[in-house]
Amino acid sequence: MRNDTSMRVLNFAALAEYHLGDYWRKMRRIVHHAMSQRAVESYTPLIEIESIETMRQLFDATIDPEGSFHRGTLGVIHTVIYGKRLETSDDLVVKDLLKYILDTFQVIGKFLRFIFNKIKPRVEQLINGHFVSTTTEADAVVNLLPFLQCLPIGLDKKAKKIMDGYFSLTKKLFDKFKEDKKCGITQPCVAEYILEHMEEEGIDDFDVHNLFIDLFGGGLDTSAVTLSWITAILALHPIVQERAHAELDAMVGRDRLPNQADEANLPFIRAIIREVLRFRPPIGWLNFPHQSVQDDTYEGYHIPADTSIVINVHAMHMDSSRWTHPERFDPDRYLDMTESIPASANGPIAKRDNMAFGWGRRMCPGIFLAEAELFMGTALLLWSYRIEVEKGGKAPNINEWQSGIVMRPKPYKVSFIPRHDKVKELIFA
Ligand code: HEM
Repeated sequence: MRNDTSMRVLNFAALAEYHLGDYWRKMRRIVHHAMSQRAVESYTPLIEIESIETMRQLFDATIDPEGSFHRGTLGVIHTVIYGKRLETSDDLVVKDLLKYILDTFQVIGKFLRFIFNKIKPRVEQLINGHFVSTTTEADAVVNLLPFLQCLPIGLDKKAKKIMDGYFSLTKKLFDKFKEDKKCGITQPCVAEYILEHMEEEGIDDFDVHNLFIDLFGGGLDTSAVTLSWITAILALHPIVQERAHAELDAMVGRDRLPNQADEANLPFIRAIIREVLRFRPPIGWLNFPHQSVQDDTYEGYHIPADTSIVINVHAMHMDSSRWTHPERFDPDRYLDMTESIPASANGPIAKRDNMAFGWGRRMCPGIFLAEAELFMGTALLLWSYRIEVEKGGKAPNINEWQSGIVMRPKPYKVSFIPRHDKVKELIFA
């Protein structure tokens, strides 16, 4: 079960915030339909196209790539929901969608940072100074002390404005979808599935927009931020890049772009992704809080029903009895790992490669999509570019991060140097 969290700041019911129950099950069923392994397999061409588009934006550039990764993951999730790709003429939609998605995160982040600063000294005492500075801790404290949500910090108006704009945009997109459907020009997609099942599931337009917002929120920032971590970390690890380049040259060659079918032959690329998810999990070090549904006992401790349970991902990912020098970035830890990320996440907990996607019934339903996006993004990135610290610029600082709902790197700039002549030809083909 999930505890309510400070999402209430937005007066918005995200799936991640619902209590277990019929409503959550109903919404989760719809998300599962869109995000199952089979569904994601059918998105493979789309993920490839959007990842190549991202590579075009990075071509020979010296930039912070987060915006390009956002554009790519937005392109995927928009098509999954509405069944049609965002075209250049949709730039305004892209701008608005990105703005609303990131603004909601920012408002929550701001609220949580406020709480965080209030509680930091106390929590530092509580955990002997081992404080990991993401706002998830603040979120957990808001759950424990819900009255904190009523602190007058002036975000209500801003939150309302963002949510009104966000809802009217998803409404506009859904209305357009309904019109297109009448004209018989739509493709199978989440909107179509929902339209056909709204009555049977007993959901109304408000629920639909909540769900779309949820899919945009869940599907956009997490994968983009993971790709941003991958890029920042690789810029500081040229030897890791060289090994990945050698693997790609041997298994894919330079005459074609890598594709999803290459995944099984690229264990080092897969290992880099796994290690980044361990080393800098995008949801942060404490995950979303869960809640016990009934009384329980764990190692002699009584846990009453309805207790907030905060899961210490940091302790597990940085456990030196499991990982040698856990504070070091070392993809070799995962070189022998053949299981997919979802298979490992659903396997025995002690053997899980990372905890970045959560646990149990609330585990991330976007895990198949995330794995496919991360693989295509990383394989194409390394096939195309050498990532270098900007000449005369500052190296990315991967030991600090920006807090919010998602733990993202501090802004940085790196250079994307095409590795060979075929890069331009093939990514712009
Ligand atoms: C690298 C990418 C991603 C990471 C690391 C990630 C991580 C997570 C985590 C940790 C949770 C909470 C799990 C728990 O409470 O135990 C979660 C929930 C969720 N994620 Fe993801 N996620 C990613 C991508 C996606 C994608 C692509 C989507 C799909 C659109 C998505 C949709 C959701 C939704 C809807 C929930 C709420 C589920 C519920 O509470 O029932 N996520 N995710």
